[in-house]
Amino acid sequence: VPLETQGRDLTQQILDLLDTKQPLQSNEDFPAISQAEIKAALDRLASRLMVEYKTLDSEQVSLTPEAESIVENGSHEFKVWKAVKDAGKVSIKELPSIVGAESAKVGQGNAFKNKWIKKDGDSLVLLVTDEPKDTNRDMLKDIQASKSVSEPKLLSDLKKRKLVVVTKVITYTVTKGPKYAKEIPIEHTDLTADLLTSGAWETANFKPYNFAALGAAQDSGALHPLNKVRQEFRNIFFSQGFVEMPTGHFVDSGFWNFDALFVPQQHPARDMQDTFFVSDPPKADKPRADPASEATMDAMEAGSRRLFATGEKRETKPRDFEKYWQDVQKVHQDGAFGSIGYRYQWKEDECLRLVLRTHTTAVSTWALHRLAEDPRPARYFSIDRVFRNETLDATHLAEFHQIEGVIADFGLTLGGLQRFLEDFFSKMGIENLRFKPAYNPYTEPSMEIFGYHKGLKRWLEIGNSGMFRPEMLQPMGLPKDMRVYGFGLSLERPTMMKYEVSNIRELLGHKVDLKWIKEQPAVRFDKE
Ligand code: PHE
Repeated sequence: VPLETQGRDLTQQILDLLDTKQPLQSNEDFPAISQAEIKAALDRLASRLMVEYKTLDSEQVSLTPEAESIVENGSHEFKVWKAVKDAGKVSIKELPSIVGAESAKVGQGNAFKNKWIKKDGDSLVLLVTDEPKDTNRDMLKDIQASKSVSEPKLLSDLKKRKLVVVTKVITYTVTKGPKYAKEIPIEHTDLTADLLTSGAWETANFKPYNFAALGAAQDSGALHPLNKVRQEFRNIFFSQGFVEMPTGHFVDSGFWNFDALFVPQQHPARDMQDTFFVSDPPKADKPRADPASEATMDAMEAGSRRLFATGEKRETKPRDFEKYWQDVQKVHQDGAFGSIGYRYQWKEDECLRLVLRTHTTAVSTWALHRLAEDPRPARYFSIDRVFRNETLDATHLAEFHQIEGVIADFGLTLGGLQRFLEDFFSKMGIENLRFKPAYNPYTEPSMEIFGYHKGLKRWLEIGNSGMFRPEMLQPMGLPKDMRVYGFGLSLERPTMMKYEVSNIRELLGHKVDLKWIKEQPAVRFDKE
């Protein structure tokens, strides 16, 4: 039903009745119509100034079916008295079959107390012969008429005895408004060329805008909350001059995921327990240029360099993948670049195993190696999926999204990383960062990041960070005095905080309620 014709009958009835009666009382004049319908009709009329109305909230006491039957047939004690009166004498045993079990039980005692009847052996006989005053019934009758009980103690007593219930009622008191008419006049929703040329616009009635209307829900697609939060993070990164890295391939070689990061081949993280290995194809290529990623990264960098353009032509030194491969082997096996290395027999096969990447640092590594072609200050980020063979529970899935940033520059210090992270996290409402020494094979020093969330009012572990080791950067061919920071956090965690989801399965996977996804609002990190 179009909005305009909904409840039209009711609006017309209201206008008709107002013509002869003022004010209207919604509960008396339209007792059968729901509050919501009445309110909708009144709002429709009030927005056109055709009526004015006041809302009155009140409590109303009404009788339960048991109490209604008392009003009709008398109280339990009255029924007992009547039964004895009619028969002259009633056997106590037979009373329930005459007046009913409930009345026999409650009524007998009260009739004794009122001194209306007395016992005579096994039977009941009258003490009062003239019809006694049935005060319980009279009281309930009064309540039925007035719909109220003035004494609070009596009210709670009656509620306990299940004789009355209290309900909230809203009553609208309606009077004519300044533009009252017996019918809703035709209203124009648009100022048309016709109205203008004919001059009718001067006297025409225009429908007022309803700025409070929420609009109808659209049956359209919706962004997943993870994507909304992801976009919010992307904006933070872009606003700080970061270039997005191409993270499109989920499968990578052990080389890019581990070896190039100076993660030794016997490191527990490389175990079957933590890493998903891919068996088909059985083996990766040795590290080489990847044209698709190259093209994406070129485009992203070109976009950002336009912002920071200097116009200078720079010399680049193309990557030598073979030398990189050998230097990575050397730094693990024998030590190199001033490091004594791990000193174990490095195996090519381990390097060429295919894995579902366990962190996006695999991509950062690729981007940093690429940076060595033209070493210069750079800021890279990525937000994408990673995979770990974890025990699944309310907060862990075998796949999640990592937010990761790296900053390369000359003369960087650890304090600079802390300062950067303070700025970064303050943009999402997290302040007072604290850092705890941690361990990553590829960073030294490494720091876990904790922060105080103003909205949630508690401390959270929010990420991992560090300065990449020379054992990782030197084989890439980056200059000795270039330092690189890195940090990472999960996308799921801030999303769960923002959308108040406590079980990750409600956010990701086959149990997700699509209706919930559709209804979630956009997110703002700087607002609670
Ligand atoms: N790769 C790390 C992780 O998986 C995050 C990190 C990135 C740490 C860069 C330090 C530097 O948690």
